[in-house]
Amino acid sequence: MNKKNLLYVLSGFIIILLIGIIIVYDDEEQERDNGELAESDTRETELDTSLSVEERVENLLSRMTLEEKIGQMVQGEITTTRPKDVKDYYLGSILNGGGSTVSPNTPEKWLETIIEYQNMAGSTRLGIPIIYGIDAVHGNNNVYGATIFPHNIGLGATRDKELVKRIGEVTAMEVSTTGMHWNFAPVLAIPQDERWGRTYEGYGESKELVTELSVAYLEGIQGVPSDKDFMHGTKIIGTAKHWVGDGATTGGIDQGNIILTEEELQYHIEPYISAIEAGARTVMVSYTSWNGLKTHGDHYLVTEVLKGDLGFDGLVVSDWNAHEQVHPEYEEAVKQSVLAGVDLFMVPDSWKEFIDTLTALVEADEVPISRIDDAVTRILRVKMEARLFEEPFPDETLMEEGTFGSEEHREVAREAVRKSQVLLKNEGDILPLSKDMDIFVAGIKGDDIGYQSGGWTIDWQGSPGNITPGTTILEGIKNIVSDDSIITYSEDGVGAEGHDVAIVVIGEEPYAEMFGDADDLKLSEEDMRLLQTVQQTDIPMVVILLSGRPLIITDEIEHWDAFIASWLPGTEGHGVADVLFGDYPFSGELSMTWPKSMEQIPIHFEDDDYDPLFPYGFGLKTD
Ligand code: GLC
Repeated sequence: MNKKNLLYVLSGFIIILLIGIIIVYDDEEQERDNGELAESDTRETELDTSLSVEERVENLLSRMTLEEKIGQMVQGEITTTRPKDVKDYYLGSILNGGGSTVSPNTPEKWLETIIEYQNMAGSTRLGIPIIYGIDAVHGNNNVYGATIFPHNIGLGATRDKELVKRIGEVTAMEVSTTGMHWNFAPVLAIPQDERWGRTYEGYGESKELVTELSVAYLEGIQGVPSDKDFMHGTKIIGTAKHWVGDGATTGGIDQGNIILTEEELQYHIEPYISAIEAGARTVMVSYTSWNGLKTHGDHYLVTEVLKGDLGFDGLVVSDWNAHEQVHPEYEEAVKQSVLAGVDLFMVPDSWKEFIDTLTALVEADEVPISRIDDAVTRILRVKMEARLFEEPFPDETLMEEGTFGSEEHREVAREAVRKSQVLLKNEGDILPLSKDMDIFVAGIKGDDIGYQSGGWTIDWQGSPGNITPGTTILEGIKNIVSDDSIITYSEDGVGAEGHDVAIVVIGEEPYAEMFGDADDLKLSEEDMRLLQTVQQTDIPMVVILLSGRPLIITDEIEHWDAFIASWLPGTEGHGVADVLFGDYPFSGELSMTWPKSMEQIPIHFEDDDYDPLFPYGFGLKTD
């Protein structure tokens, strides 16, 4: 064979060899995509804590398919998402909405359920763990038997950041014990209009107060970034929400429009700066619009301000189906909210449609893969910072320790109830009461855990009744008085004659979010009847109000000898008796201005013509 022919043969051989290598490589890639090829060598990378989080994230991302990436951006809800769906669609997160519970609603069943979801995540090709989220906004409030704390408006009245941090610590214990990783709290809203149904979820109308207490709560539930157990073990991941300015919604209309200049909006941005500095690693976007543009579709606020100016490199999560509000046409809504900078989508039910739509948008180059990679990088980053890859499953020994809903935890809540009570009137220093008095307690709300806990308690909206273990205000009174005292309880207020004093408990029906929006904050007809029935007897009256915000009582308070704003104290109602009878002093101070009339609302302590019934910060003290 001459040289020329030999060269031809060799060239042909090399070409065949190259084609063979390409085919083999492609097959291997295909096998990998199909999950057939073991990832044993590279899977160690994401568990290799000698590498930086960034190196581990980058390595893992490089091995993910588009399907796996988009799956990570989706959060399904437990009532519409089976554990097997996590495996089949590579879902990155699961939540339960307010009132969405497992059956039976026990800590043990929650733990078992979340482990089942995590097992399915672990069985996927790359084994990326889910992050499980819940609204534990005043304790692990979906779970029967949990310690339920006063809602934030009451915690604001305590002015006690150390106490709020301890509340965060206890909440994290009771959330992690049930296997959950992520709490959609604290709310950083600075409520400006008491007509807003979510007023009670804010710590108060002051930027400084909200900043101080939300940072304290965050440090309580997460620890601080330098802690070895930061955001894992008995600590959990927190959420700064809702970005941004939700408390300034016009007219107190939930999910409404915020009409502020950018300079005015800074007032509502500042708590986020402190929260991020304190280690907030997730931010939930607000349903509201800013000057007419839905924030879920606002690239300027979500990407340029939050991720750019504030340097936030954690994950941004949408609110419940909030992406659908961005645009009437679904595909455009998905496109705009992804491009705006939302990373993880709370799509409780229609997540298959979301996945298909986003996949089509990426394949059509309408959403660049760089945006997908940025979102998934942020999600993986937070999961790795929370050590979910090394420790995807909860420490089941926590359940055995029996701290869930324990007396020790409830004592923290009882202290918070004491310190949150705001004494607004005390004629003749009638308070504290003597433990030897004959006392008439009136009103069904005085003996009802549901009324004293309010919304976000077992059910999303909350509900009257004996909904979870705790101590009612009446039970607390009975437990604290002496054997010489006679306690008479009346649901309708009839029979007060002959007693030394009447304690009348009135308040709002439980509500959450938009269901609490109100154009009129007057007392209910039922409560007015109750008050008038007792007033006819002329015995001294102590009125206790259970509410998520100040109500209009300007005329009615004239007939009362003493008045206490009790807010929504939660399960430990005996904390009210502790200050009523002087075991502890009244120390609470208003976290929201108390208006004289609806015409004054919105009213704020920084207003020029400020003339409320009781000013922000007011509260009578006793020894
Ligand atoms: C709700 C609330 C949000 C909550 C989420 C999940 O609509 O706006 O605060 O975290 O849905 O329950």
